[in-house]
Amino acid sequence: MQILDGKLVAQTVKNDLKIKVAALKEKGKKKPHLAAVLVGNNGASETYVASKVKTCEEIGYQSTLIRFNTDVEEDVLLRKIQELNADDNIDGILVQLPLPKQIAEEKVINAIAAEKDVDGFHPTNIGKMIQGQPAYIPATPYGILLLLKHYKIETKGKHAVVIGRSNIVGRPISILLSQNTPTGNCTVTLCHSHTSNLKAICLQADIIVAALGKAEFLTADMVKDGAIVIDVGITRVEDKSKKKGYAIKGDVHFETVAPKCSYITPVPGGVGAMTIAALMQNTYLAATQKQ
Ligand code: GUN
Repeated sequence: MQILDGKLVAQTVKNDLKIKVAALKEKGKKKPHLAAVLVGNNGASETYVASKVKTCEEIGYQSTLIRFNTDVEEDVLLRKIQELNADDNIDGILVQLPLPKQIAEEKVINAIAAEKDVDGFHPTNIGKMIQGQPAYIPATPYGILLLLKHYKIETKGKHAVVIGRSNIVGRPISILLSQNTPTGNCTVTLCHSHTSNLKAICLQADIIVAALGKAEFLTADMVKDGAIVIDVGITRVEDKSKKKGYAIKGDVHFETVAPKCSYITPVPGGVGAMTIAALMQNTYLAATQKQ
C-alpha cells in the first residue's frame, strides 16, 4: 500500500508556481491576483479561505479577501462580483460555498466572468470541460488528476466508482475520469444517495472516489484488494481530546481500508492539499492568459 501524499505533491506544484511568478516579475509583469469572497462565518469556510489566502502569499500572488455578513442581500453580493469582473487588476474570483439560504448559489456562480472563474463552476467552464476544450477545471477534481499524474497511476481501462454527485466534485471527476486523456479512459459508475447495491458496485471498483461528505462511510468490506482509494471527505467530528474540540475525518475508514489498497489518500494531507494547489494553478492560468 502506498500513500498518495497530497501535501508533498501540492508543495511541488506550489514551488513550480513560485518560480513562474518570480519569472513574471522579472519580465515586469504583474503577479497573479486572486479575489476571495467569504459570506458569513462558517468555521470550515473560514479555514479554507484563510488557507487559500495564505497560499497566495506563500507563492507570491496578490490576494484580496472580501467579507460579507451572513445576512447580506443577494443584490449586494452580485454587485460586488460585477465590480470584481470589471477590475483589470483581479485575475481570479472565488466565492466560497456554501452560501446562506437567501442567496441563490446558481446566480452567484453564473455572475462570475467565465475567464475569471478559477473555481471552474461557471456553466461555460463546465460545458467546455465536458467537451474536452481548454477550461478551468474545478479545483478538487483537478487536484485529484494532478495526484494521479504525479504517481503515474494507470487509469486506462479501470472501473472507477465515484460516490457523490455534487457539481463541485462527484459529477466533474466522473466526467474527467471517463475522458480520453492520460488520467482518464476509465469506465465510470457514478453513485449517490439513491444507488441500490452500493457495496456490490464498490466491490467491483479498481478506483473509488469517495466524495459524499459522510465521515468514515467507506469501510473495508466495500473495497476489493488492490483498489485505489481517493478520499475527498473533510468532515469535522466532535473530539474533546483535541484542542479545537473536533477531529477531521475523511469519507473513508482509513485504518481498515488502507491495508487493502494499492494506493490511498490520507485525510488530512491528501486531496485537500491538492485542491488549493489546483486553485493556484488555475489562478496562474487566468493571469497569464490575460497577459
Ligand atoms: N466549498 C467547498 N469546496 C469549494 C471549492 O472548491 N470552492 C469554493 N468556492 N467553495 C467550496
